[in-house]
Amino acid sequence: MTGTIDRVAGDSVRPITPLGILVEQLEAIVSEAKGSVSADLMTKLQAAYQLAAGLDPYVEACTTAESEDLAAIAARTRSERWSQHFSDGETVRQLEQEMLSGHVEGQALKMFVSMTRAKRILDIGMFTGYSALAMAEALPSDGYLLACEVDSYVASLAREMFDRSLHGSKIEIAIAPALETLRKLAEAGETFDFAFIDADKKRVCAVFSTAARLEFVDT
Ligand SMILES: C[S@@+](CC[C@H](N)C(=O)[O-])C[C@H]1O[C@@H](n2cnc3c(N)ncnc32)[C@H](O)[C@@H]1O
Repeated sequence: MTGTIDRVAGDSVRPITPLGILVEQLEAIVSEAKGSVSADLMTKLQAAYQLAAGLDPYVEACTTAESEDLAAIAARTRSERWSQHFSDGETVRQLEQEMLSGHVEGQALKMFVSMTRAKRILDIGMFTGYSALAMAEALPSDGYLLACEVDSYVASLAREMFDRSLHGSKIEIAIAPALETLRKLAEAGETFDFAFIDADKKRVCAVFSTAARLEFVDT
């Protein structure tokens, strides 16, 4: 979510959001422009860079802090060597730490769950479990979250993190392509109150229409 580059033991981090990419490009422009543009233009470029670079940290600072359990998932995700796991055949595709939704998105999801008073949630595309656990934290004690994930490596990593967390017992993981899981749920007449679709973006319309065939309860 942020343009800040955080070096840790795992793979290196690259900006992926439009804002993160803009910050990186402005940083390069400021550096290249040094000594070759007027002082006035340099001041304007630096102001543009500082404005863009300050936005994500400002939003982060204004957002409710994440729980220790969510911070542990984020730290574990950063420390994994995703490229190595893929080349060793441990993951079905190249996964990367940038896939994690993170602090601001996690707190926004928690807010939506609280606002809708959802009791049964679908998390489609779980990765290491950040969005699933963030939403589970806002569920009542008898709430239920089904997380759909196709990759067994991340599913077992997430299960390990959920089992150590305060709210992970509300989460069940379905390891299969999401469309398969959704079709089975629709056939079984399962109902849900809230869904977060964060996988299979190329087939998001099919995922959405299959999820929509599930009964979503009006609250
Ligand atoms: C962007 S990540 C999800 C991030 C997660 N929601 C979070 O907040 O941290 C997408 C995940 O979806 C999984 N995925 C991709 N295609 C899938 C499919 N067809 N069915 C289920 N999971 C899928 C990937 O393995 C990956 O772990």
